[in-house]
Amino acid sequence: MDIQSIQAQIENDLSAATSLPALEEIRVKYLGRKGLVSELTGSIAGLPVEQRGQFGQQVNALKNKLQGFLEAKEKTLKTQPGVSQKTGVDIGMPGIAREPGSVHPITRIIDEICAVFTRMGFSVVSGPEVETEYNNFTGLNIPLEHPSRDAFDTFYLKNYSKLLLRSHTSPVQVRVMKTQKPPLAVIVPGRVYRPDAVDASHLFMFHQIEGFLVDENIRFSDLKGVLELFAKSVFGQEIKMRFRPHFFPFTEPSVEVDISCIICKGKGCSVCGRKGWLEILGAGMIHPNVFKQVGYKAGLYTGFAFGMGVERIAMLKYGINDIRLFFENDLRFLKQF
Ligand code: PHE
Repeated sequence: MDIQSIQAQIENDLSAATSLPALEEIRVKYLGRKGLVSELTGSIAGLPVEQRGQFGQQVNALKNKLQGFLEAKEKTLKTQPGVSQKTGVDIGMPGIAREPGSVHPITRIIDEICAVFTRMGFSVVSGPEVETEYNNFTGLNIPLEHPSRDAFDTFYLKNYSKLLLRSHTSPVQVRVMKTQKPPLAVIVPGRVYRPDAVDASHLFMFHQIEGFLVDENIRFSDLKGVLELFAKSVFGQEIKMRFRPHFFPFTEPSVEVDISCIICKGKGCSVCGRKGWLEILGAGMIHPNVFKQVGYKAGLYTGFAFGMGVERIAMLKYGINDIRLFFENDLRFLKQF
């Protein structure tokens, strides 16, 4: 290629360059080790001796011109509005967008439920996931060897026979009552663990929300009023609620609480197993033996407690049919909340 056409090509390339990286590409194309100008310089040796001097001067002139062009173009690019003088970065260009995250559906439900109870005057408390055997069982009137321990059996920490992963949030009742006197109105969200085989409705870890209220003259009707307000706030004003007798060692009397099926409105469908009702929590009046364990004077206080599974509530509310979806970190699932 002759010097003239290379110079024309350089001018073309330069006027098309609109960024500093593009300019750098041009510099490499012509002045780099394998660039066109170096090629010309290399070809000097192959020329007849009498032509070398003149050709060499022309190549040098071209090289100097190009260097001048590049410097001038760099200056104009760097002083363009939007381009940083220091870095040459065009801050007017669209940036790399960060995808905004969102609150996990379980956290969202916990926040929503806690908000309902804090509006009623409850305070939110948390307790450790590694608990003592005493707080998880004995303090809650579940004596060693009692068959009801089986239902709450759990993972014991190796080498620490008295420590375990709590199988419910109820031990926080014992913790709070041992350190504080009534009146108490407390709500406890947190993780619990059970040695359950994993399937669409079971996990070895899930979340519960415990609630309890203790004072003088607290009645079963107080429990009913609080739970009704909770259920209607979360599932809608039109739902019905019913209490079925049940057994828990730490409450007496004990109940399981159902709401009318939110899918079929009580007519019976596959979600409620044709029963028209959905179980949402366990509850009852705190057993006098629990008050005794925490050192409250006998007969002075009464109170109620309840416990619910957060995943179950979330599944009912959002129509989710597999509990495992919550913890697989699949963005196609999580992005829907
Ligand atoms: N701790 C019970 C459970 O895990 C639930 C419960 C809490 C029941 C408080 C009654 C009172 O099943």
